[in-house]
Amino acid sequence: MEKYVINGGNKLYGRVKIQSAKNSVLPILAAAVLTDGKVRILNVPHITDVGNMVKILIRLGCKAEYSGEDILIDSSSANCFEIPSGLAHELRSSIFLLGSLISRFRMAKIAFPGGCDIGLRPVDLHLNGLKRLGVEITEKNGYILCKCEKLTGNEIMLDCPSVGATENIMLAAVKAEGATVIKNAAREPEIEDLQKFLNAIGAKVSGAGSGTVVIEGVKNLGSTDFQPMNDRIEAGTFLVAAAMCGGEVELERTSSENISSLLHKLRENGCNIHTKNDKIVLERSRRLMSVKSVETQPYPGFPTDLQAQITALLCICKGQSIVTENLFETRFKYVPELRKMGADITVINRSAFVRGVERFKGATVIAHDLRGGAALVLAGLAAEGRSEVLDISHIDRGYGSFEYKLRAIGGDIARVAI
Ligand code: EPZ
Repeated sequence: MEKYVINGGNKLYGRVKIQSAKNSVLPILAAAVLTDGKVRILNVPHITDVGNMVKILIRLGCKAEYSGEDILIDSSSANCFEIPSGLAHELRSSIFLLGSLISRFRMAKIAFPGGCDIGLRPVDLHLNGLKRLGVEITEKNGYILCKCEKLTGNEIMLDCPSVGATENIMLAAVKAEGATVIKNAAREPEIEDLQKFLNAIGAKVSGAGSGTVVIEGVKNLGSTDFQPMNDRIEAGTFLVAAAMCGGEVELERTSSENISSLLHKLRENGCNIHTKNDKIVLERSRRLMSVKSVETQPYPGFPTDLQAQITALLCICKGQSIVTENLFETRFKYVPELRKMGADITVINRSAFVRGVERFKGATVIAHDLRGGAALVLAGLAAEGRSEVLDISHIDRGYGSFEYKLRAIGGDIARVAI
């Protein structure tokens, strides 16, 4: 077990190198199972979710290993279509592998991923989409069993623009017979990145980002070296850190387009933000003003993965705000922890009602999930006095070298074994 010990109050100054996007690397690792070609994914962060996905690929018989900052995958020796329940529960995103395993083996078996720290996380849209491609699905003793004679392209309308369901269906459709059209598909930039990767190994995918994705089945796939997009959620987390602590922070290799909804809110708060090519500079000198409301929505709306971070910021702005979480049922678990630090915040149903206070007071708080845990770190950095954040393994799932990057721009934070 480890914790962060933070002494708050330092302004943040400097440049931050943003990691490759966790939510792009994970589906790409699943996609690598589709091909017998060699795949190298470049500059992959050493985070737990990626490590667990690599472990699953190895259990499936693939060769998969880190080589420095890259991951090398060779799935030609893959010989298993069952994902062990322990690893499936450890990593919800293993559900993406259904599409690849069915495409490769015509069979797949995975434990029901179930809910997690932020909500019920159903997979009905994944399964209904796969059924439309000809997959027979049965659920038995907590497992999802899939089999099919062959995969046949079809038109699929998603009830809601689910990121994971869009990705799973894309993977299953890559080598199906004929074309597949996914309507009401998720528009997240990570979907476009997956399309780019799939086409790099020889697939024929188009329309990602538009809401309608078209996959024309192909017979053979090959190799590629692939640089995933940057992690827009890590970038947003560092921008909010700078907004909360004050100072001036520059992000490298970050597309402002991918987090324009956050930049809009931060400018409304009173931050000075300049974007040039793939750099974003945020400068904050005076106390920030609240924004009336923040509503999380599917892309290009405000990202649910930045909801906790912006709520922490709003807790120390002048004025009142309402933050509404429209995607996940229980994504306010960090709120009682912020109240321990002096936040004036009340959650009613899916909305958090925030009254800004001057500053957080240092306290000992507990991380309950990945993004909520990151928000507590930001609150500690901006707080008066000393804070401790416990259960930081949640944060290690998605942020590589988090404390090193924060220290490099002036944050007083250390990882301590308990
Ligand atoms: C992806 O999760 C991300 N994870 C999440 O990031 C992110 O919060 C989410 O997309 C939304 O942007 C990865 O990419 C690995 P969804 P996913 O399917 O695919 C409902 C993080 O912190 N739904 O788009 O699971 C669901 O209940 C993580 O990095 C169904 O009803 O999200 C939710 O309300 C957290 N049936 C909504 O769709 C389904 O079959 C959005 O979920 C699937 C989803």
